[in-house]
This record gives sequence, C-alpha cells and structure tokens, in this order.
Amino acid sequence: MKNNSSVFFRLACLLLLVFIAFMFYRFQKKEKEESSESISIHNNAALSVIHSRKSVRNFVPGKLVSEEDIQKIVRAGMAAPSGRDLRPWEIIVINDRMAMDTLATQLPYAKMLETATLAIVVCGDTARSPLWVYDCSAVTQNILLAAEALGLGAVWTAAHPYEDRMSAVANAVGLPASVLPLAVIPVGYPNGDFEPKEKYDETKVHFNRWTTNAK
Ligand SMILES: Cc1cc2nc3c(=O)[nH]c(=O)nc-3n(C[C@H](O)[C@H](O)[C@H](O)COP(=O)(O)O)c2cc1C
Repeated sequence: MKNNSSVFFRLACLLLLVFIAFMFYRFQKKEKEESSESISIHNNAALSVIHSRKSVRNFVPGKLVSEEDIQKIVRAGMAAPSGRDLRPWEIIVINDRMAMDTLATQLPYAKMLETATLAIVVCGDTARSPLWVYDCSAVTQNILLAAEALGLGAVWTAAHPYEDRMSAVANAVGLPASVLPLAVIPVGYPNGDFEPKEKYDETKVHFNRWTTNAK
C-alpha cells in the first residue's frame, strides 16, 4: 500500500514537472513572437523574408551560386519601381574569382568579396534619368531580399557617392562615362550565424501629423 502511494506520488510529481516545462515553453514562445512583431509576419512569405534579411559579410568559400539563382536575383532586381518607369539601371554580374579579388583590394569596405562567390554591381545610367540613385536603390534592396529568399547571404556595399570607390568600380568593370555604380553586392552562402536586427521603433511613427515622441 505504502509502495503504491509512493509510485503514485512520483508519477504525480513527474506529470507536474512535464506540465510546468510545457507551460514554460509556451510562455517563452509567445514572448518571442510578441517581441519580434505585434502583428504576425511569419505566416506571410514576403514579410517573413523582409524581416529575416540581414547583412552577411562572410561566405562559404568556393560554394557557387547557381545560374538559375543568379537569374532569379537579377530579375528580382529589375522588378523594382522607377521614376516615370524609366528603368535607368544596368547590372554587372561578376563571378570571375580574379575580378572579385581585384575589386576586394580596391574597395576597403567590401573586403567580404574575398569569400563571396558572386558580386552584383548595380549601376545607373545618369543620361536616362536624374532619379537613378533612387531607382537603383530599389533594385539593390530587391536583390538583397531575393538573396535572402533563396537562402543566400548578401550585403549592400556603397560605391556611390564616394568618388574613389566609384572610379575603382568603374575602371574594374569598364563602365562608360554616363553609367555610374551605386552599389556592389557580394553574394554567397552564409558562413556563420547572422541574425536580423530588431529595428521597429514606435516613437518614429507619426499618425496624421508630426508628434514629438519621448524615447
Ligand atoms: C547606402 C548603404 C551603404 C552601405 N555601405 C556598406 C559598406 O560599404 N560596407 C558594408 O559592410 N556595409 C554597408 N552597408 C550595410 C549596412 O552597414 C547595414 O545595412 C546596416 O549595418 C544594418 O544592418 P543590416 O543590413 O544587417 O540590417 C550599407 C548599407 C546601405 C543602405
């Protein structure tokens, strides 16, 4: 009899522990979901990609991006909006190891080209639109999102507006005078763990008119 009640007591303790662990897991999960977004983003593919995107600056050396993925990335870039629909962009795809290494030596803020297996240079034809910087920025963001969606890593590195970086890129890829480089995007398979930053700040949101929100 005594044995039976001791077994029952142990079983009850075990069940209680399992219940507490389950509730703790549920609580943690809910907290995580609530802190990342007050609206659900994870059941929407586009929003999920937007919120997962992060700059990746280290890549698995030698792991090539497929031709098919390169096509998808470039197409996503050119799906960008542009002022008066002028589409003043030109895109240079670099997958030649020597060309990427040369560029890495000339661009101190794009050293990650050394491990990237692909670089996409987003350029704008200044003769086609005075809005080329905005249009090409939209192209660049689309490319970053496409890379994220395909399980790749990428980072926006600036060429424009830095004269030295722009002429280094222009010389490296042989651009004509009217075409200027906006960004060089090293792409590859992420090497390491990279997490997106939580940037939402409700004090920067103003409904209908400016409000001074205390931080
Ligand atoms: C216009 C612009 C220029 C940037 N230039 C560089 C750069 O030259 N080198 C670099 O490593 N990152 C560059 N970045 C990436 C930013 O450092 C990065 O987006 C920022 O730290 C936020 O991090 P996240 O992309 O992971 O959200 C640039 C980003 C933008 C939008």
